[in-house]
Amino acid sequence: MSTVAEGLNGLTADAMVLYQKLHHYHWNISGDEFFSLHAKFEELYDLFAVVLDDVAERVLTIGGTPPRTLAEVLETTSLQEDPGMPEDDEDFVQNILNDFDAVLKSTLAVVEAAEAANDRGTVALLDDIRGQIEKQAWMLKAYLAD
Ligand SMILES: [Fe+2]
Repeated sequence: MSTVAEGLNGLTADAMVLYQKLHHYHWNISGDEFFSLHAKFEELYDLFAVVLDDVAERVLTIGGTPPRTLAEVLETTSLQEDPGMPEDDEDFVQNILNDFDAVLKSTLAVVEAAEAANDRGTVALLDDIRGQIEKQAWMLKAYLAD
């Protein structure tokens, strides 16, 4: 598989891990911020459901193979799952923000590989996705600001 397709598969796997983690946080958030964060995490897992599908279909478009199993997803992702419970609402948000920062960093390398291959469709897709994640990261940072 090409470097670009492999890079895109990394994002496919990260999006699937985030899809699960955001459901976990959506289900298990409690306390004063329940209503705001329960809704925000739902908005975010909906975003990553779209990202996951769009990126996997781009992998196919450029001749690669997206992951077929969750085992493959876990081998491919650069993110960690969270089997535990964050301590408070700020930890829930900070964990997601850390994952977003990691995804923004790893996708930049894929953009560079796609540019080197003159793969404009992949560059356009990733630029759009990165812009959406950057906007959400700004909102999560604003939530955490004192
Ligand atoms: Fe729900």
